Amino acid sequence: MSKLQGQNQTGTWVLIHLLMVLSFLTGKYTYTQAKQKSLRNPFTGQPAAINEGKSIFRTQCALCHGIEARGGLKGPNLTSARWTHGDSDDTIFRTITEGVPGTQMPANNFPPEKTWKLIAYLRSLSARASVSALGNRVAGEEIFLRKAHCSQCHMVNGHGGRLGPDLSRIGASRSIPYLKDKIREPSKLGEDMTVGLWWELGLPLVYQTVTLVTKDGRRITGALRNEDTFSIQLMDQGEELLMFWKKDLQQVIHERSSLMPRYDEQRLSEKELQDLLAYLDSLGGP
Ligand code: HEC
Ligand code: HEC
Repeated sequence: MSKLQGQNQTGTWVLIHLLMVLSFLTGKYTYTQAKQKSLRNPFTGQPAAINEGKSIFRTQCALCHGIEARGGLKGPNLTSARWTHGDSDDTIFRTITEGVPGTQMPANNFPPEKTWKLIAYLRSLSARASVSALGNRVAGEEIFLRKAHCSQCHMVNGHGGRLGPDLSRIGASRSIPYLKDKIREPSKLGEDMTVGLWWELGLPLVYQTVTLVTKDGRRITGALRNEDTFSIQLMDQGEELLMFWKKDLQQVIHERSSLMPRYDEQRLSEKELQDLLAYLDSLGGP
């Protein structure tokens, strides 16, 4: 009998402690929530701040995201009202400050007002943006896998080739106009003047095409994987990874064209292109 009472007491103690821990946790929880709630943009809707944000954007972000933030050389559209990394002021603030690790989106060490002005500018755009109608995603996947054989060179979610970049998150990281250009004119970037600017900023374009000429005159063209003073690595068109010492080569030619074939209207109709774009746009990754 007294043993049972002892057990009851222990039970009560456990319960009391549990309640204490719980109230501590919930207290802390509402505290963090409150802190997050206070992270509101003080400049929302203020024309002067929006204008300032716009000029900051043009100098610091436009190269990747495009002059109107609709997507550019390497960054996605920021006016589509689709935010892969969170749509609150708070999360956008964090994305701009910390960047997106593992992607080309860099971290920025701005004073908070500067970041808030940028966000005020971006908000002013998404309010006006309209979502453009794309084609049929399911038909697009079929084109990707079969008709256009994109998967021969590109991996999506672990399936496909490796000569070109993995496209599992391409919808989140690039804009529709960029994707359209890439399919119709894969080498357009090579002729584009902005590429010079890109190089000056020390940002290499990924998967560049190189041609190596060996001492005995053989030419090997592939996608550059690695290069230093003494050696060069490339993947040839059979997906073989090759390494050469530069002293064994006659010449290393950095081509200004892509290994990706052009898909003109004979190979891919305008409707098929729209379907394919709908599919690519849906690839947001995990
Ligand atoms: C070197 C290219 C580059 C520069 C410069 C750059 N970005 Fe980005 N940005 C990217 C890429 C690429 C992504 C997509 C990341 C991914 O794959 O998820 C991105 C993503 C973002 C996102 C997240 C979008 C979403 O859907 O959640 C925001 C916000 C953003 N950038 C804002 C900015 C701002 C503001 C600047 C200027 C201060 C800037 N970026 C400069 C390349 C860039
Ligand atoms: C013969 C191989 C090959 C085929 C087939 C191919 N690609 Fe590519 N693709 C590449 C290579 C190599 C690159 C990287 C060099 C470059 O950017 O041009 C690339 C780049 C890309 C990029 C740019 C990726 C980025 O991160 O910016 C996209 C998008 C793309 N391809 C989509 C497609 C689609 C869609 C198809 C089918 C219609 C396709 N590719 C067919 C080889 C190929």
